[in-house]
Order: sequence, then C-alpha cells, then structure tokens
Amino acid sequence: MNLKDKFIDYFKSNGHIQIPSAPLIPENDPSVLFNTAGMQPLIPYLLGKKHPEGTRLCDYQKCVRLTDLEEIGDKTHHTFFEMLGNWSLGDYFKKESIEYSFEFLTKVLNIPVDRLAVTVFEGNDDIPRDEVAATIWRELGIPEERIAYLGLEDNFWIAGDTGPCGGDTEIFYFRSDEDIPKVFDPKDDRWVEIWNNVFMEYRKNADGTIEELEQKNVDTGMGLERVVAVLENVDDNYKTSIWKEIIEAIESVSKKTYNENEVSMRIIADHIRTAVFISADYAGIKPSNTDQGYILRRLIRRAIRHGKKLGIDTNTNWTLPIALEVIAKYEDYYSEIKDNKEIVLDVLKNESIKFNRTLEKGLKEFDKLISHIDNSIIDKENAFRLYDTYGFPIELTEEMAQEKGLTVDIQGFYEKFKAHQELSRTASAGKFKGGLASSGEMETKYHTATHLLNAALKVVVDKNVHQKGSNITEERMRFDFSCDHKLTDEEKKQVEELVNKWIQEDLPVTMETMNKNDAVNSGAEAMFIEKYADIVNVYSIGDVSKEICGGPHVEHTGVLGVFRIKKEEASSAGVRRIKAVLE
Ligand code: ALA
Repeated sequence: MNLKDKFIDYFKSNGHIQIPSAPLIPENDPSVLFNTAGMQPLIPYLLGKKHPEGTRLCDYQKCVRLTDLEEIGDKTHHTFFEMLGNWSLGDYFKKESIEYSFEFLTKVLNIPVDRLAVTVFEGNDDIPRDEVAATIWRELGIPEERIAYLGLEDNFWIAGDTGPCGGDTEIFYFRSDEDIPKVFDPKDDRWVEIWNNVFMEYRKNADGTIEELEQKNVDTGMGLERVVAVLENVDDNYKTSIWKEIIEAIESVSKKTYNENEVSMRIIADHIRTAVFISADYAGIKPSNTDQGYILRRLIRRAIRHGKKLGIDTNTNWTLPIALEVIAKYEDYYSEIKDNKEIVLDVLKNESIKFNRTLEKGLKEFDKLISHIDNSIIDKENAFRLYDTYGFPIELTEEMAQEKGLTVDIQGFYEKFKAHQELSRTASAGKFKGGLASSGEMETKYHTATHLLNAALKVVVDKNVHQKGSNITEERMRFDFSCDHKLTDEEKKQVEELVNKWIQEDLPVTMETMNKNDAVNSGAEAMFIEKYADIVNVYSIGDVSKEICGGPHVEHTGVLGVFRIKKEEASSAGVRRIKAVLE
C-alpha cells in the first residue's frame, strides 16, 4: 500500500472521516492563486463553523507553492505537491495528536524512534512555552536531548497574515547514513522536517492582536514527496517511486540519462506535473498573461526551454508521453485528471506550438543580444522585446541571463509592462489589438456575450442581479452572479432567447473612454469599481447594456452565433454560475 493510502487508513481507523482534496484553484477566494496547505479550505471550520463531516477529518490535499519556483531543479523542491493532513475541529488536542503522529510513524511506517527528533514552541509574551507538548513527547520515549525549543519563526504557524493560528511541534527524521548524533541540532540539515502538528487555538486579527478561539483545533501537514523519499531511503526526491516513470519518460524522449542532466530533467518533470494539475482543474484555466493562466504559461514555456537544452526536438509533441505518465499516476486519485485528460493534453500541445513559433528566433535574439552587451545587464527594452515579440516570460529571460552571469533590469521591465498595459486598456478598441491583454477571436466574442448575459439576467430574473465573476476560454464562458435561487427552466429559456434576440438584432458595440466617476454616474455597471484606473473604457451594446470593461469586444452582436446555456449551478452561498457556449 502506498503512503497516501496508509495515512488515510490509519486516521480512518482512529475515527476520522476522509474529506476530498479541495480544488487546486480555490473557489471563492480571489486572494490566493492556488491552495497552499491542507488547512486552507478548512479555515471557516477552524474558526468555529460546524463541518458537515464532523470534528475529525483527514485528507490528501493538492497544493502549489510558488515561493519555491526558483529553487526547482534541486533535490527537494516542487511547485505542486500533496500534503497529508489530519484535523481535530475542537475535538482532541495535543496529547492525541502527538500520539497519533508517533504511532503512525513508528508502528505503521516502522521508523525507528532513534531516528526521530522534535521541536516545540519556546513561547513569547503572549503565548506560554509549550511544556505540555514536550512532556507528551518525553512520555512517548523521545529523550530530552532530542527535543528543541524554538521561537515564532520556526514553531508558530499561520497561513498568511490573519486567521487561525498557533504554536506547533515539528517532527524531524535523520536522513543520512552517518552515525546519528545523540543531541538534536535543528540547524543540522541531515535532520529533515517531515510532519508539522499545529495547535490552532488562537486567531490573529488584522490589527495584529491575538485572541483565543472558542475551540482548540489541531491542523497537521506532512509533505508526501519528502516522506516517500525518507521511506525509500534516497536523498533526491526525484529518485523516488513517485517520479520513476515520469523521469524515465523524459530520459526516453531526450535519449539522455537523468544522472547527467538532473537539473533540466527535474524542472521538466516538476513543471509538467504542475501544468497537468493546473489545466485539469475544473476552473478551466488556460495559458494566458494573467493570474493562474500566466503561471501555467510560464511553467510550460520553461519546461520547453529545458527540453531544448536537452536536445529534444521541441517542435514535436514531446511532452505527451511525459504528461501521460503524470496522468496515469494520479487519475485514480483525482477525478479532474481523468475527466479533463484531453483538455490537459491539448493545453500542453497548443502552448508548445505557440511558443515554438517564436522560441528559435527568440533564442537567436538572446544570443545576439548578449554577444553585444557592454555591461552585464539586459536592459528593459530588450527584456520587454523578448517578452512581447518572442513570448519569453520575464522569469525565463532572467534565468537565461543568470546562466550567463548577467542580470536583467526587472524593475524597468515592469515599468514598461505596466505602461503598455495601461495603453492597451485605455486605447480605443481594435487599435491596440494584440497588446498584452490580447484575446483571440472566440474570447472576444465571449466577452461581448458575457455583457449580453448579464443584461438578460437583469431583465428576466431580477434587476439586482450582479456579476460576481467570469472566466472565458476559447471554448466557453462561465459567469457567476448574485441570485438567491436556482434558475427555473423557464428562466433559463427566456434568458437564452433574449440573448439570441439581441444577437439577431445585430446591435452595435461602442466604446467611450471617460473618467471613472462620470462612467458610474452615467449608469455604467462595474464589477469591482476600485479595481479600475481613473480613466476607464465604457462599452455599450445598443441600449441594452453599458459596462465599464477593459474589452476587447466585437463591433456588432450579429457575429456571435447562437448562444446556449449548458449548465446552471450553485457557485457559493447566494451566487449562481452559468456555463454557456456560442455555437
Ligand atoms: N498547516 C501546516 C503546514 O502547512 C500544517 O505546515
């Protein structure tokens, strides 16, 4: 049985209910791009809300952490990883939590006690030193010299700046063939952290104050990749059974060996796995120039560059066998991987085709550029040209520069980037098409259809319906709106008919640029008014719709085709979601 299954089995047999992994792209939380910890989807319950499954939960959670992106290529970092976790929501506390962890490690995984050491919170002005946890560890047989007391930096856990938090105790494993030192030194990197048990009994407020929660919770997290490496006795995570077939696929495509090409192969393996998970998510993320779409694009493009470094002909569909290995590994655990397999493969293929069109020329440009450079800095004009003309994410240019001992004027790049973005936002529609925020023909049509849908919902359902979000790909549109009920079949039919009527009327789409306040006063609708610059574009469709929007839009509604609602469902409390297509 693999570690994931053993973990769930163990906690189930101790009264925990297994909950499914939350989506990688958080629903209803625009403040983060990806789930970064097992506890993130559980925050409301840690703060006291009743969880429908009870007070003892366990799961494996998909996570992406981008803080480590630059580290990828070494032995231990990954952008995507799985976190094993168990929770007590006001149920058991320190004693049982530590006993469960200890029993699982020493009895289920058979790790010798002698290889373990722990840290506990040394306390500060607000929170006492955790002698309770230390005593429990001693009673279980962890000797005094294997218990270290550390401060806020190491043994206090919170996700972000506010929310549920508390002191923690971390468990370390001695990963080396050398003699195990009697005394545990947390700075000695032969000791690797394998599990974190957080005792979430506080809440941190925005003003920095800490208050006690009514319930005492436990939140634990164990990094799957790292623990598998420990159990399989390798000091390189990419040499574990998790990566075996994936690395072999890369070796086979490149006809090179892992041992001689570790860095590029790790980057390709990691980035393709993460790209598979991002593009499989039901949120329907596609490579783009913003948010999750930009991360996806960056990962795929960086993998392609490393593919080229390995001598792979990147004009072929070379990522396919690698992606198929990733899919095979995870499809039985995560339904989206199975359901969206074809979408994932298309995303990888299409993004490769797109990037390969300019990659070769871009690499030549880069070489030319660095052969003429008179200081060691790639200036903003060149960095921006590599981005804008050749599709090189700035981070890729930076990485390539670093390999040559050069630096990039990153700040200058962002200034240019921002100026260009403002320009595309405020310039008249069409004129600057193909700018940074460019959209394809289908996306442009869906943008306009979104405005029509928004207007039709106000007529058919309720004039107080407001847009809560939207997401557009080449294939479909998704529209979230405030509404307290499931739409009836009759309402859906009427909405569809009204949108199609407006399409048939071939209404003109016009744009005016104006001051933000004037726009609002003129009755233009805006989703997040504070998000916009002072000067905004207002798009009107005949006299049925008027919205502040960055565009782009079609010029006449007649080109949209036929609008069909494919699905109407709940998105969150008081918010409904419509998925629709143009046929
Ligand atoms: N939330 C804790 C962590 O991510 C368990 O380390």
